[in-house]
Amino acid sequence: MSKTALITGASSGIGAEFARYHAQKGGDVVLTARSEDKLKKLAAEIEAEHKVKAHVIVADLGTAKGPSELVRQVTEAGIQIDILINNAGFGGQGRHIDRNIDDELEMIDLNVKALVALSHHFGREMSKRAQGRILNVGSSAGFMPGPLQAVYFATKAFVKSFSEALDHELRPQGVTVTLLAPGYVKTAFADRADLHGTKLTAGGGKTPRSVAKYGYDAMSRGELVAINEKQLDFMVNWIIPLLPRRAVLKMIERMQSK
Ligand SMILES: NC(=O)c1ccc[n+]([C@@H]2O[C@H](COP(=O)([O-])OP(=O)(O)OC[C@H]3O[C@@H](n4cnc5c(N)ncnc54)[C@H](OP(=O)(O)O)[C@@H]3O)[C@@H](O)[C@H]2O)c1
Repeated sequence: MSKTALITGASSGIGAEFARYHAQKGGDVVLTARSEDKLKKLAAEIEAEHKVKAHVIVADLGTAKGPSELVRQVTEAGIQIDILINNAGFGGQGRHIDRNIDDELEMIDLNVKALVALSHHFGREMSKRAQGRILNVGSSAGFMPGPLQAVYFATKAFVKSFSEALDHELRPQGVTVTLLAPGYVKTAFADRADLHGTKLTAGGGKTPRSVAKYGYDAMSRGELVAINEKQLDFMVNWIIPLLPRRAVLKMIERMQSK
């Protein structure tokens, strides 16, 4: 029997590529995001190319009821989720006090609260069956503080800490949790985060397809943390923790300045 993957933020970027890659392996997908048209188009493409079932559930996971509404629809449709990919997320450039507080709080609701709510529900279901995989999309931003994206970096630090601890709790019951922590990826992320014109986006970035494949394969092997760039892996684990804090703060601020 093929495994079914629920992918949040499947309407574009890395999420759409997770869906294509999983379907290519013969698995059914549940695609969710806010953009119904994009989800339906992707579902049609996937079903035509890979002969799998692609369900579409439209949900705004940045709202208080979004995650429970998604869970309700999955349950009512009788779909068993074998793989949960918590991918939906967004960032936003600028000094915290200059940014709109509603956007900052919505970022926490989506990047953190929705990810926790879905991990809780589906992690529990997977544990009962003693089988399952969760892939949480964090960021290299989760390894350091981020002036000019203070809230975004903090949400991804939460995702890192939570994912590692949850893996330790669930692994004995046959469920693994993998953190994917990419550097810059060429998607619509930079548009919504207003990052164009910064050093961060000047370097080109990786393709969403390569990043999704890297993270999915690491999840399939049950790895704890997956960083898709070797140099970045070395930087965030071995250089940045040893640098003076003020130097790190200045470096990140420079990268995100316009
Ligand atoms: N691109 C990068 O440089 C980069 C680097 C490191 C980590 N990441 C992480 O990778 C993940 C995917 O981002 P991406 O680069 O693929 O960006 P993207 O192309 O902008 O995709 C973001 C996805 O999240 C969905 N989304 C946004 N707000 C939502 C909401 N309120 N409710 C439900 N879904 C929502 C979007 O769909 P709708 O708009 O249709 O709802 C879209 O499918 C994010 O968690 C991001 O933080 C990205």
